[in-house]
Amino acid sequence: MSDANLSETNIVLIGFMGSGKSLTAKCLASRLGKMVVSTDDLIEAQERRPITEIFAREGEAYFRNIEKAAVAEASGRSGIIIDCGGGVVLDPENLKRLKASGRVFYLKASAEALYKNVKGRKHRPLLNVTDPLSVIQEKLAERKPFYEQADDVILSEGRTIEDMAEEIMGKLGGS
Ligand code: S3P
Repeated sequence: MSDANLSETNIVLIGFMGSGKSLTAKCLASRLGKMVVSTDDLIEAQERRPITEIFAREGEAYFRNIEKAAVAEASGRSGIIIDCGGGVVLDPENLKRLKASGRVFYLKASAEALYKNVKGRKHRPLLNVTDPLSVIQEKLAERKPFYEQADDVILSEGRTIEDMAEEIMGKLGGS
C-alpha cells in the first residue's frame, strides 16, 4: 500500500463492550494525528440523548437502525479512526461498509476479562442486568463469527492500550 493510500484508509476498531476500543482509538489518534469518529457519539449527537435513554424509550431495534446510519456516515469519511459500538457486527451490511472503508481490527478478549472491564459501569443498557457475565458470554458467542471477519485480530486481554496501538500501527506499516 502506498503512503497516500495508507493515510486515506480508515482504521476501524470492532469488538465487544469493554475490549478497549475507545481508549485504543484515542491512543492511535494522538500517535497518528488522526481524528476519531465513534458510532456511539454520532448516535447520541443525532438523537440528543444518551444511549441508555434511547434503549429505554425506543428499544434496541430503533437503536440498531440509527447505528446503521452512523456506520454509513463514518465509513463514508476517510483518513479517520472509527470506534464502533460492540453490536455493529450484528448487521452484515455494516461490516461490509466498514471493511470497504478501511482496515478492520478486532480487539479480542474472553468474557471474563470483558466482565472485569465493564463491571460497575452503568452506561451500557445491555449490561444493566442482574447477571451481566451470562449476557456477555451469550452475546460474545453469538457475535464471535462476525467479529472474526475482521482483517486482523488484536488480543486485548492483559495488554496495555499503548501496546495494542503499537501492534495496530505495526500492522498498518507492514502491509
Ligand atoms: C453495544 C455496545 C455499546 C453501545 C450500545 C450497544 C452492544 O458500545 O453501542 O450500548 O450491543 O455491544 P461500546 O461497545 O462502545 O460499549
